[in-house]
Amino acid sequence: MFENTYQNKRVLVTGHTGFKGAWLITWLLELGAEVHGLANGIPTLPSLYEVLGLADRIKQHHEGDVRDLDFVKKTVAAVRPDFIFHLAAQAIVKKSLENPLDTLTTNLLGHAHLLEAVRELDQPCVMVMVTSDKCYDNREQAEGYAEVDPLGGGDPYSASKAAAEIVVQAWQRSFFSDKNSPVRIATARAGNVIGGGDWAEGRIVPDCIRAWSEGKPVHLRKPNATRPWQHVLEPLSGYLRLGQMLAQHSELNGEAFNFGPQAAQNCTVLDLLTTLAGHWHFDDGAPKFKVDEIRSFQEAELLRLNCEKAAGLLAWQPVLHFEEAAALTGKWYHHFYQKAKQDMADYTLRQLQFFLKTATERGVEWAFR
Ligand SMILES: NC(=O)c1ccc[n+]([C@@H]2O[C@H](COP(=O)([O-])OP(=O)(O)OC[C@H]3O[C@@H](n4cnc5c(N)ncnc54)[C@H](O)[C@@H]3O)[C@@H](O)[C@H]2O)c1
Repeated sequence: MFENTYQNKRVLVTGHTGFKGAWLITWLLELGAEVHGLANGIPTLPSLYEVLGLADRIKQHHEGDVRDLDFVKKTVAAVRPDFIFHLAAQAIVKKSLENPLDTLTTNLLGHAHLLEAVRELDQPCVMVMVTSDKCYDNREQAEGYAEVDPLGGGDPYSASKAAAEIVVQAWQRSFFSDKNSPVRIATARAGNVIGGGDWAEGRIVPDCIRAWSEGKPVHLRKPNATRPWQHVLEPLSGYLRLGQMLAQHSELNGEAFNFGPQAAQNCTVLDLLTTLAGHWHFDDGAPKFKVDEIRSFQEAELLRLNCEKAAGLLAWQPVLHFEEAAALTGKWYHHFYQKAKQDMADYTLRQLQFFLKTATERGVEWAFR
């Protein structure tokens, strides 16, 4: 898989203590990488990073803030990474409305500081910079956004991700555009991931699981909002495939890629939670949902991605159907809360293996090469 691209390679994952980061380093360790992490701490309690015991399995955890240029430079110089996956961010739209400058500085300077640090590295390095599907100027158009569509942002989080895209483009064109450049960079735009082990506040699945684990119904603001849900392993397969292809093909340097679900997977919040509820063993008569029609803040209802570029240039495609992604998510939390907390590392690996087996059975190309 991924042509052994990551075996024995030094890989720096920023934001490795977060939801996507913990799944990504789990996968990278399976691929034989020497994993280093950079983050400003453990963002949630519980945390997937701690539940899986990842601190003992990675080479080193570098604790600090991506807004601290000196710290970022020192970390990159010490690790000398062959690959960087930059995921560290303030990742919640609601928090960006409460503290917009914190979001802007973290999400924008994080990218710029890593790019500056890599400029001082005298060795090849492949950088996969994670932004978001929210980087597009979202006019709620029915057809999906392609990578050539205008960037924009109707809230501080979205604006920070669009700005990060522009910063990456500027540094790549200014400093790393030569075809023999040792540094190659691409951005990855995905959104709305679900999966076991997310406990971030202000996201629908963790909010729901927290409420159910306390025997309470979850409050829904917009039950009929439609989202392109995908399992967390889907964009991660895209990031890993992108890293591999970027290392092999200089012409991909500077490109942006969307990683989204098949179009038919846009389902409502209620569809998702109803499927999750099917995996939660409720006491008889326990209420599951409570609908509050309060629109506390404006968030786009519809956001679709066109993933033809990733399919064409990277031979990447998603694997799971919506029900499978929701079932993996529901079963993970059911296992954690209602069965055995201590064997979650094994259980998580079994879910990764199921995902890989399904990818192989469905003939998804990245699973073979
Ligand atoms: N989860 C989603 O649905 C989703 C959707 C689209 C894009 N993304 C993007 O994917 C990436 C990972 O998201 P996630 O869901 O794992 O987020 P998360 O909130 O679970 O984790 C964020 C990580 O970044 C670190 N971090 C935050 N601020 C930092 C700072 N100032 N300095 C150093 N580290 C800092 C945290 O410690 C944590 O490790 C982010 O860039 C996010 O914007 C996520």
